[in-house]
Amino acid sequence: MNFIPYGKQFLDQNDINAVVKTLHSDFLTTGPKVKEFEEALCDYTGAKYAVAASNGTAALHLASLALLKKGDLVLTTPNSFLATSNAILYAKAKPIFVDICEDGNIDLELCEKELVKNPNIRAIYGVSFSGNILDQKKLKYLKEKYNILILEDNAHAIGATSGSIKAGSCENSDCSIFSFHPVKHMTTGEGGAITTNSKKIYEKLLTLRNHGMIKTQDMAPWEYEMHELGFNYRITDIQCALGLSQLKKLDNFVQKRQEIAKKYDEAFENSIIKPLYTYNGKSSYHIYVVRVNFDRLKISKKELFLQMRKKGIGLQLHYIPINKQPYYKSLGYGNENTPFMDKYYKECFSLPIYPKLSDKEQKYVIKTLMDILYD
Ligand SMILES: Cc1ncc(COP(=O)(O)O)c(C=O)c1O
Repeated sequence: MNFIPYGKQFLDQNDINAVVKTLHSDFLTTGPKVKEFEEALCDYTGAKYAVAASNGTAALHLASLALLKKGDLVLTTPNSFLATSNAILYAKAKPIFVDICEDGNIDLELCEKELVKNPNIRAIYGVSFSGNILDQKKLKYLKEKYNILILEDNAHAIGATSGSIKAGSCENSDCSIFSFHPVKHMTTGEGGAITTNSKKIYEKLLTLRNHGMIKTQDMAPWEYEMHELGFNYRITDIQCALGLSQLKKLDNFVQKRQEIAKKYDEAFENSIIKPLYTYNGKSSYHIYVVRVNFDRLKISKKELFLQMRKKGIGLQLHYIPINKQPYYKSLGYGNENTPFMDKYYKECFSLPIYPKLSDKEQKYVIKTLMDILYD
């Protein structure tokens, strides 16, 4: 059996054909495919505007520059990839780390306590962790009551829903971002996007994505002006051709992930392996996280990872608490009161989940894991 990673892309001949067709076209970048991809993302999510970018981190950076000002205080989660809170720092704003709930998402009740304590808090950056979309009712309530900005980091959650609300629709947020890295649900190689319902934010994102340059109809053909510092965070037509082709398969990808998650849940029933949450048919299951109390076992988590690797299986860990990273500690973070995150970090790890994972491979993962943990 080949090595089984924790995540992997699914590409077929249609994806390859779409890319090759664009390679033969006049535009390799900033051509019709970018616009088409952005429109398709709007259709899929229900958001009014979408801006595709070179990766999810660039999308977070652009959104943060559009939303935040220097010194703004932003509530965020320690349970994410570094990019979520790094983007707050890029905008010279200040992250405040809030503990998580049992499902791995930021605790919005605790966020409210922080908002009551400090009326100067400007925004919440939440992550729809693992594909489990943030509590929309609570977001709506917090946004209305405290007049704050909300960014949903939906890098894990394209294809997820909450009631009738789709991840990325921005019904209760100002911006949402996606990542199209190959381990995510659908890929453009590298790539990302921001969705929003605000024309003002949309226009700002477009300018910032392209060096801060503006060009108006009354200008001479060669003219452009720069009024603010932007970046080259453009995505190529080649990537967007792939994105358009992948988007057609997204619902199937999500369904396959859900089926895998269900099988894991069933296999671990009444065992020492606890799924992060009981099966949730609305989650898009970017990752499948389980918790094990290693204090009660002979084996450490590191040893488990090494033994699984020897058997050809790649486990992953989502995530090391961001506030405990050396760089964040150098900024004074690390001693926040986050008991759930700290306990979760000791116990959690992620199992392989991706559309191409076969039944046979999944059974092998389950058996190998059980054998090692029960040895
Ligand atoms: C929650 C989260 N946010 C942001 C990112 C950044 O996306 P990218 O890798 O496309 O820059 C990731 C990627 O792993 C992520 O998982």
